[in-house]
This record gives sequence, structure tokens and C-alpha cells, in this order.
Amino acid sequence: MKGKSEGFVRELRLADEAATVALGARIAAALRPGDAVALAGDLGSGKTTLARAILRALGIKEDVPSPTFTLVQHYATPDLTVDHFDLYRIEAESEVEQLGLDDALAHGAALIEWPERAGSRLPCDHLHVELGPAGPHARFAALSGPADWGLRLFESADHV
Ligand SMILES: Nc1ncnc2c1ncn2[C@@H]1O[C@H](COP(=O)(O)OP(=O)(O)OP(=O)(O)O)[C@@H](O)[C@H]1O
Ligand SMILES: [Mg+2]
Repeated sequence: MKGKSEGFVRELRLADEAATVALGARIAAALRPGDAVALAGDLGSGKTTLARAILRALGIKEDVPSPTFTLVQHYATPDLTVDHFDLYRIEAESEVEQLGLDDALAHGAALIEWPERAGSRLPCDHLHVELGPAGPHARFAALSGPADWGLRLFESADHV
């Protein structure tokens, strides 16, 4: 049966915000056009902090606000465009199309907070990052997705 056996799961403990920033750099180094990264977890779990770290590692120097009210923020580097979504306030899955998720993925990558709000409109090959509390300054991060994402993120690190 196809399914989870072809995917990867990795749980990390992020001891402090610097560890979250380091994870962001790791994701940024692997990010390619067409990639969707789902950032899940409760209010204040660190989704925007991780998205900001990814964007900073890609070379974005401008302010990276939470897209709480704009719902999507667009960024461009010489190599990659990245759209940062926050779907907390959408009321229907169809709004995801109006916000331009498909267009974003046709041209570049997408970072998506509150991805569960997108339902089936979320690409099935996305990298899923679930953040949760593990102490005042610590978070756990459960990463999962297609095996290819696991290789891109962890293959080299597994050999050191
Ligand atoms: N290890 C850590 N990783 C990420 N954030 C941390 C960590 N430790 C403390 N924090 C703090 O937790 C808060 C996370 O806020 P952030 O806006 O990133 O959460 P969020 O998941 O995007 O919330 P929302 O659902 O409201 O969008 C920040 O104030 C950040 O400084
Ligand atoms: Mg946020």
C-alpha cells in the first residue's frame, strides 16, 4: 500500500528560539519553486517565527509581519518568490484560491499558517511542520511529508 511508508516523520525539540531559527534556515536551504510548507500549531506556537526565519535565511531583509490581517504577504528573492499565508481568518476553503495559493505555487513556494483551514486545497506533497509547547522557550516540531522532503532536509545531517 502506498502511503506513510513512503513518507518521513521527524520529531525535533527546539530548545530555544535560536533552534527554531536554525530549523528555518534548514528548510530555506531545501526550498524550491512549487513547494508548500504547512506551519501548524496553536496560537503562539511559533509558526510566524519559523516562517520569518525561513524568509530571513532566503535573504529577505524587509520587515516580515504576521499576515494575520492581510492573509498573505508576498516576498521575492532573485531565485525564489515566496508567499506567506495565514488562513486563521478565512471562512471557507474556497477563499484559499482567491488568495492565490495555486498561483503562488505555480511560480514559487508557499508558507502556510493554519493550513488545516485550506482542507483539500493544500497540496498533498507538502512539508508539514507541527509546532507545540515544550517549555517557556522550547517548542517541539513534528515534521512529516513525502520521503523526498526528508532527504532534502536531513540526508546530509544524518551522515555527520
Ligand atoms: N523556541 C521558540 N520557537 C519559536 N517561538 C518561540 C520560541 N520560544 C519562544 N518563542 C516565542 O513564542 C512566540 C511565537 O509567536 P508566533 O507569532 O511565531 O506564533 P504563531 O504560531 O505564528 O501564532 P499565531 O497563531 O497567532 O499566528 C514569539 O513571541 C516567540 O518569541
Ligand atoms: Mg502566526
